[in-house]
Amino acid sequence: MTTRKLLLLPGDGIGPEAMAEVEKLISLMNEVAGSGFETETGLVGGAAYDVHGAAISDADMELAKTADAILFGAVGGPKWDKNSYETRPESGLLRLRKDLDLFANLRPAICYPALAEASSLKRELVDGLDILILRELTGGVYFGLPKEITELGNGQKRGVDTQVYQTYEIERIARAAFELARTRRGKVTSMEKRNVMVTGVLWNEVVTAVHADYPDVELEHMLADAGGMQLVRAPKQFDVIVTDNLFGDMLSDIAAMLTGSLGMLPSASLGPADETTGRRNAMYEPVHGSAPDISGKGIANPIAMIASFAMALRYSFNMIEEADKLKASIAEVLQAGIRTGDIMSEGARQVGTVEMGDAIAESFRAKLS
Ligand code: NAD
Ligand code: IPM
Ligand code: MN
Repeated sequence: MTTRKLLLLPGDGIGPEAMAEVEKLISLMNEVAGSGFETETGLVGGAAYDVHGAAISDADMELAKTADAILFGAVGGPKWDKNSYETRPESGLLRLRKDLDLFANLRPAICYPALAEASSLKRELVDGLDILILRELTGGVYFGLPKEITELGNGQKRGVDTQVYQTYEIERIARAAFELARTRRGKVTSMEKRNVMVTGVLWNEVVTAVHADYPDVELEHMLADAGGMQLVRAPKQFDVIVTDNLFGDMLSDIAAMLTGSLGMLPSASLGPADETTGRRNAMYEPVHGSAPDISGKGIANPIAMIASFAMALRYSFNMIEEADKLKASIAEVLQAGIRTGDIMSEGARQVGTVEMGDAIAESFRAKLS
């Protein structure tokens, strides 16, 4: 029997609450379909800092490098807000992304028909929405050097972050965007700010050059600020949006609200495929954070985490049928009017994290057996 090695990193706040609902699905798949998942659980974020003094230990990094896929919950919280930049919970997530070279972050924003009312936009603008934000995840201002605060000696300090991109980094994310667009509606919108940033000029130039290999895909360029505006004005005009690390972070939170809630948006972070084995590092994480305002209350929406697991089935394990069934189960439960508080609407039944997870698991079980 195939064994599939999963590393679970639940993290902080609502991370562990959402992860528990995915663990149910993993057990279910092993039991009903003999899927052969083997899980190990590690510490990340504040939870790791409290034990190891670092937001991820070297030992857990080693597990991450050998797992077939990593499922990541969320990190951060007020308890660690005064930590130094190097030991903040978020640094564990950044180390995972950088050390595993997870350069391609797929953030699909899909508006389930049942949730069109939960969006802050009018139904007709979001009904049937299916766009993919492809965020470059290992470069740009997140990792550029220097990154420092220096004392100027006159009572002033100077903070510097540095936006850096090299050709190969833009080339590989552009290639990923065109390849993904080919499996979808064949359109890529590249967003940067070439009017102010030289990295934007280079980004635009390299994406245009890579496009020559993909004449069947339509390419358009948009300034990122205008792109943000277009995302809320007429989001269905987009298919794949490819953009840098920081713009991708902000644009995907905006896109989340088109789908009803940040609690709905999954993501996949993929590394390059090994040329001989085809294996790639991969981590799956919801777009939302640890939600300190609702953690411990049992009310968090687990769908972003569950849909991230569905992306793991698709991209790491090639279990396309199972991934489709899991997505269909999410849609079915929403259609039945079962809602967590963040996506609640009139006439629906409000449930907590565990009941939402149970309802999805029940529907999934029926589809698997
Ligand atoms: P957040 O995503 O944690 O929360 C923003 C808002 O959305 C909150 O009101 C929260 O209650 C709500 N929300 C988020 N996920 C939800 C869910 N599943 N169900 C229902 N409601 C949900 O962002 P924030 O408050 O800006 O950040 C909190 C902490 O999380 C910070 O420390 C931040 O750095 C961290 N963070 C971590 C990640 C990650 O681990 N990938 C992502 C974003 C933020
Ligand atoms: C995200 C988060 C992270 C980011 C933080 C927690 C480091 O906001 O995954 O969207 O900024 O990339
Ligand atoms: Mn973010």
